[in-house]
Amino acid sequence: ANERTLSIIKPDAVAGNNIGAIYSRFEDAGLKIVAAKMLHLDDEKAGGFYAEHKERPFYNDLVSFMTSGPVVVSVLEGENAIAKHREIMGATNPADAAEGTIRADFASSIDENAVHGSDSAESASREISYFFNEDEVCARTR
Ligand code: CMP
Repeated sequence: ANERTLSIIKPDAVAGNNIGAIYSRFEDAGLKIVAAKMLHLDDEKAGGFYAEHKERPFYNDLVSFMTSGPVVVSVLEGENAIAKHREIMGATNPADAAEGTIRADFASSIDENAVHGSDSAESASREISYFFNEDEVCARTR
């Protein structure tokens, strides 16, 4: 099915000047960028995004990393976009990420792992509306 998913290019990848290289991975996989913005998240915005992890031991470090510099949030659209995006990102821990995936090539640790992607249709819908109004997502007719 045609799907939309949320991508975050995290502060480590923005600082590493890898925005364009990561966008190329999306486009080369046939995913269309249908919304995009750069943001410097504050504790409230980053903490709310990761609310499901609030009780996990890594939550405070995660929020402080995600607010340490600007991120690029995007909506990606395409056939099977949620799974395709997760496949090209690779495993959460770059040490486990398959060769040629974004995390294998651009991430340094499980904490600083370059990118986030929605893990299900339900998360995609929640995460897209967390960052974008419907009129900020552009229908692609060509
Ligand atoms: P992300 O997909 O953005 O979702 C939550 C993030 O928490 C995850 O990527 C990792 O960067 C970070 N994290 C740190 N430690 C862990 C862990 N043990 N399990 C899952 N995620 C972790």
